[in-house]
Amino acid sequence: MRTPIVAGNWKMHKTVAQAVELTRSLRRALVDVSGVEVVLCPPFTALAATREAIGPAKIGLGSQDMHFEEQGAFTGEVSPSMVAELCQFVILGHSERRQYFGETDAGDNKKARAARAHNLTPIICVGENLDQNRAGETAAWVGGQVRSAFEGISPEDASRVVIAYEPIWAIGTGLAAEPAEVNQIIGVSIRGTLSDIFGETVAQSIRVQYGGSVKPDNVAAFAIQPEIDGALVGGASLKSDRFVELVKAFTP
Ligand code: PGA
Repeated sequence: MRTPIVAGNWKMHKTVAQAVELTRSLRRALVDVSGVEVVLCPPFTALAATREAIGPAKIGLGSQDMHFEEQGAFTGEVSPSMVAELCQFVILGHSERRQYFGETDAGDNKKARAARAHNLTPIICVGENLDQNRAGETAAWVGGQVRSAFEGISPEDASRVVIAYEPIWAIGTGLAAEPAEVNQIIGVSIRGTLSDIFGETVAQSIRVQYGGSVKPDNVAAFAIQPEIDGALVGGASLKSDRFVELVKAFTP
């Protein structure tokens, strides 16, 4: 049995004060919720304060990116050990990073390996764009992204990785993918590829989230799909009551 995992990707939102306020509110609202892992991913500037605001609550913390190098002259970058001082998770290869900041599969694989070397759980994002989707290329594209992401990663480390399947056309558009189709893509293209690489036992242990316009009014349809192990949430993670509804939808 895979424990569902719901992560809030706050993107470039929330000052330190706003991050603390949201975290405190989530802490109160989630106190009785169990059976689902919750992760908050604020901007780098708010990580330390969010960590503090989480306190002893069972809420994970993640950054939205990191460099793969240990240290050095990389102005503006944050290293794996810096992230690991505060976080248990790191989002890698988000489509916005790929689109606006030139990230590549190969670079994100280096980051994934660095994350595991620092005992961080990477949340690796994969997903096709609208043209690829319309051309029927989703399965091949997503399978290829999964292969690149796990290059050189041991089976033990692989089972600690989380994948977020996020069709690019569904992110921030209000147009979520069809839950049954997502279930099929995850089962065949993602878990099928993982099974080819690592065997069925490891493939069954890896959690795969769906991301892209997950909201309180559509979350239930995703939560009932057997291959969907949670959600990576952007817009709806910025308001406490909305995010709490999403978390609760995935409780067993
Ligand atoms: P969205 O973003 O929920 O606002 O569509 C999801 C994501 O980018 O992870």
